[in-house]
Amino acid sequence: MDEAQLRELTAANPELGGLRDQALAAIAAAGEQAAIEDVRVRFLGRKSRLTEILRSISALPAEQRPVVGRLGNLVRVELGALVEAREAELASASLRSALAHERIDVTLPGEPFLGGHEHLISRTIREVEDIFIGLGYKVAEGPEVETEYYNFTALNTPADHPARSLHDTFFVDAASAGARAGRGADDGLLLRTHTSPVQVRAMEKQPPPVYVVCPGKAYRRDLDATHTPMFHQVEGLAVDEGITLADLKGTLYHFARAFFGTDREIRLRPHFFPFTEPSVEVDVSCGLCGGKGCRSCKYSGWLEILGAGMVDPSLYGFVGYDADKVQGFAFGMGVERMAMLKHHIPDARAFVDNDKRFLEQF
Ligand code: DAH
Repeated sequence: MDEAQLRELTAANPELGGLRDQALAAIAAAGEQAAIEDVRVRFLGRKSRLTEILRSISALPAEQRPVVGRLGNLVRVELGALVEAREAELASASLRSALAHERIDVTLPGEPFLGGHEHLISRTIREVEDIFIGLGYKVAEGPEVETEYYNFTALNTPADHPARSLHDTFFVDAASAGARAGRGADDGLLLRTHTSPVQVRAMEKQPPPVYVVCPGKAYRRDLDATHTPMFHQVEGLAVDEGITLADLKGTLYHFARAFFGTDREIRLRPHFFPFTEPSVEVDVSCGLCGGKGCRSCKYSGWLEILGAGMVDPSLYGFVGYDADKVQGFAFGMGVERMAMLKHHIPDARAFVDNDKRFLEQF
């Protein structure tokens, strides 16, 4: 609207000129999108004074109508365009500021995605299994809650053996410790103290020949740097015709070298287990000193790795095998112990502490 039009407007209707001035000032003052929307409603809305004036033109004296109609409309169009322009300006300013403040730096390094992996105990069990599977053995499993019969009696461990006391063994229900309660010596339920009962279960399930390894958890009332109340063992059993102690030694020699390294030697020492005759303990030569003697092997050059022996023929009576026809050997190793020896871990409790700084090293 130019100067001449403005003068003409003010002369014809002074209120319109004043409204226009107020609207121009309000548009200039609107600092955000909500404020400019208020200005639009106030000056151009259906209930605004301008709309009211334009609607009531017919009530004006005849000579005023054309001027007010033409110029009033001009003011409406002019203010509408200014409101729109101001609104666009504010919208783009707010977009610019959002872009500046909410910017995402796509070059920042992301949150690391940590991959999990097998626990060292699981991995060690798998390594042991793999070695024996390579020799033709099958993997067998048995229950962790076991009867006194399988855990002790069928393994030649008599009712008065100290291992059967409440002091050494977790009975599921102490009163059910049959041998102790003077009832049936075989019925009590316990957490198996070793994986050897799986030997008996494996032989019950199938006729000879049997070649199995049995990994799993075992439980004893023990807790110190080298013992946890729950631990893992891998049992081995081979029953066939013509098996001798030389087969046991050859098998364990192969195993020790496959597991610890081909520079290792083994030795067998006489020992006693109720379920093998003869029984041995097996040592592997120390990997740190090569057998010369060091702190790790207590200056003996050797590290004990497992118990073993020729299956006592009396066991075959429990499972219906012909003791005159078959022979066999058995062995049992502690998985924690094997992992500790292989990786030089000083404390078995680290396996159950679940400290990631420990677990992530393997
Ligand atoms: N069961 C024995 C233990 O837990 C280990 C063992 C020794 C297992 C000799 C055997 C074996 O199969 O023949 O101490």
